[in-house]
Amino acid sequence: MKNLAWLVTTLPLFTACSPAPEVSETAPAPAAVSNSADNIKAGVDYHSFANPSEVTVTHLDLDLTADFDASVLSGTATLTYEKQLPEADTLIVDTRDLTIQSVTANGVSLDYQLQAADPELGSALEITLPEAGNQVTIAYATSPQASGVQWLTPSQTAGKEYPFLFTQSQAVHSRSFIPLQDSPQVRVTYNATIHTPEALLAVMSAANDPDTERDGEYEFTMPQPVPSYLIALAIGDLHFKPMGERTGVYAEPALLDAAAEEFADTESMLEATESTYGPYGWDRYDLLILPPSFPFGGMENPRLSFITPTVIAGDRSLVSLIAHELAHSWSGNTVTNATWRDLWLNEGFTTYLTYRIMEMIYGHDRYRMEAVLGYQDLQEDIAALPANDQILAIDLRGRNPDDVFSDIPYEKGALFLRELEQKVGRENFDQFLLGYFKHFAFKSITTDQFIAYLNDTLLTQYPDKLDAVRIHQWIFEPGIPAGAPVPTSDAFAIIDQARQDWLAGEKSADSIDTANWTVHEWLYFLNNLPEQLSDEQLQALDEAFGLTASSNNEIAHSWLLIAVKNQYQPAYSRLYEYLVSIGRNKLVKPLYRELVKTPEGKVFAQKAFAEAKPGYHPLTIKANEDFVK
Ligand code: BES
Ligand code: ZN
Repeated sequence: MKNLAWLVTTLPLFTACSPAPEVSETAPAPAAVSNSADNIKAGVDYHSFANPSEVTVTHLDLDLTADFDASVLSGTATLTYEKQLPEADTLIVDTRDLTIQSVTANGVSLDYQLQAADPELGSALEITLPEAGNQVTIAYATSPQASGVQWLTPSQTAGKEYPFLFTQSQAVHSRSFIPLQDSPQVRVTYNATIHTPEALLAVMSAANDPDTERDGEYEFTMPQPVPSYLIALAIGDLHFKPMGERTGVYAEPALLDAAAEEFADTESMLEATESTYGPYGWDRYDLLILPPSFPFGGMENPRLSFITPTVIAGDRSLVSLIAHELAHSWSGNTVTNATWRDLWLNEGFTTYLTYRIMEMIYGHDRYRMEAVLGYQDLQEDIAALPANDQILAIDLRGRNPDDVFSDIPYEKGALFLRELEQKVGRENFDQFLLGYFKHFAFKSITTDQFIAYLNDTLLTQYPDKLDAVRIHQWIFEPGIPAGAPVPTSDAFAIIDQARQDWLAGEKSADSIDTANWTVHEWLYFLNNLPEQLSDEQLQALDEAFGLTASSNNEIAHSWLLIAVKNQYQPAYSRLYEYLVSIGRNKLVKPLYRELVKTPEGKVFAQKAFAEAKPGYHPLTIKANEDFVK
């Protein structure tokens, strides 16, 4: 069967968004395919209480004051809406831990009801709409514990002098600082006025003026409609340095030069991506360097990606992160996943694009090494995750998307696209992607819509090269289909040999010729050592290569994981320092997970966690506290 039409359910512009759906029909899956999500409704956002199919918010005006003493943002959100149904009289927005002070239209109070809170999704705010007009204003304040905001004291910043604030909305946290329809299928334009202490600068995922007067009042406009998870704010002792015509970096003064140097290739990445996938649609592309507690590597907030400082390695070795966040400007920000089930449309496409950008800028060898490392991460996840969590179009009903973070949407998604590329040819696939980004620009789409589009384009154009059953398998079944592309790297073959010789005792550690090894070669060497090593072996590696002292945070992570698995004590003070100074969950969680496997390790983990906790982001705390305690 070559035609994919049987996979596609018809999708109304908006479907009812209730986290407690009734069971309904979908297109029948082929008998051989077991898809636990058979009765899932494509396009239903199970993680929002909002009712965009009845009333849709289209624009947001925000006026907020940051109170660093109280750790509270307060002010107003004015929502402009459109009724989808003329008889609709209620607007439902998402909130989480917000104090609602009033809801008004033209200064007149409106009736509203704040429903009981769901622990993961927050509270629906139901507003009775006025007879006339299309705007409501909500006056509110955030909680100091808002899940999407981190307030840092001066001591938690690089400069130690000023406090810092940043937001992280994806997946369902913008509702913790703005009452809105917090669903990726609702897009809004926005304007914002942000009041801060006078010495500080506010930046947003919007038009930022690098030369703005630092007077404590900052105005922003975002003319392109964006989903709520892309609304972002940061406030701190931020300064700007240009890197290219359309690119620059915001950071605390102490990091500014190093960051601009590390990420100097951003402009070339932007140009290379445009040349293959079409014009950049967001005007400027700047980076914001956050304090080390930022819980992710990066976040693709439009016009201003938020970036962890842990990738400033001094040698541009970890800049694929920038390629990744930049690529989201096409896959994610321009064409957006309609629900969190469809996250792989954002992350898989972006991971595929990241590899392509890395190849364009740094060449084939580096790309191949990074692809092998990514593939190994994927294989680890496939070995560890239950079958249902290995499915690209994952069933997330009843789960918080944050709890299901894995390499599946990223690397499996990218591998799927790589297979399509290999089958139809690179040039043809690039044409397809170019058309895809154009066709769905500024839309939020479901997996089913992607399949329908694939059906109308590549499947029709290359009926002899592609196979609908296999595509279904990639998207709806666990694991990696047999015969999928397997990334390889010649450079890594040499590393395998060196590792093997050393393990066999044929070569001493200090006689391995590592002079030209890049960070990727080091990671491959370390990540593929046997689980159990002797103290002598660990010591030999450490003495020869100074691994405990490595200033590359990825290498240090791989080494510290080995140290914990083998209880290699000389690395433990570095481990402690690492855990309390970095809050990027991907770097700390595997270490905690490994530590808690032994009683002594657990005590160590608890001590580090307790010390680190005041500086960790709410997401990092939530991701670790249950198994560390
Ligand atoms: N958009 C993601 C971060 C994200 C995903 C936050 C899902 C919340 C829910 C971002 O683009 C990302 O993928 N970051 C990765 C980068 C890495 C794959 C290069 C990260 O932070 O590790
Ligand atoms: Zn991403």
